Amino acid sequence: MTTVARLSFTYRYEPGSETGRPPLLLLHGTGGDENDLISLGHLIAPGSTLLSPRGKVLEGGMPRFFRRLAEGVFDEDDVRRRANELADFVGEAREAYGLAAPIAVGFSNGANIAAATLLLRPEALAGAVLLRAMVPLSQPAATNLHGKPILVLSGAMDPMVPATNAERLVSLYKTAGADVQHRILPAGHELSQADIALAKTWLAQQ
Ligand code: MLT
Repeated sequence: MTTVARLSFTYRYEPGSETGRPPLLLLHGTGGDENDLISLGHLIAPGSTLLSPRGKVLEGGMPRFFRRLAEGVFDEDDVRRRANELADFVGEAREAYGLAAPIAVGFSNGANIAAATLLLRPEALAGAVLLRAMVPLSQPAATNLHGKPILVLSGAMDPMVPATNAERLVSLYKTAGADVQHRILPAGHELSQADIALAKTWLAQQ
């Protein structure tokens, strides 16, 4: 299916063949678009419905999901605004297509907006696979993620996400009651085969 713009984001929607599986909300990294993670979605969740929006913020022409002031330094007001916008879009898409709450699969900037959405609008997501995520908000309000399944995959050699930052994110989710798994892979910021295998196994259990 091709890109459409009839809801509040430009997005791709691919109906799945396995109706019992949760849909995936695919969230690309900086400079990506709605097409980027479609093949990954098919690989890690064969037969699942895919919903893949394009980030609305442009940084030097590159789409992202929220503004940043520098690498790893986020405009937190914009993070809040954009996470709410994304959660509203999920609601629109659920109504338009009759979908269950999706599991977010986000990479890099896409993982960070998913991380923020979990903290601010947890009802929008059934769970999340966060690939190279960071803490998106310095002072998040307490939230209830009781039993929400979250897989965090970090890279041991990631130059953008310090190990302590990913650990802080995981502990935020644990404190909120989420069912979190965290794996640190022998990888950098880019994805590896191990990310795909682990995400696929984890998604099959949801
Ligand atoms: C972000 O801005 O979300 C992170 O620095 C990752 C990136 O997109 O480069």
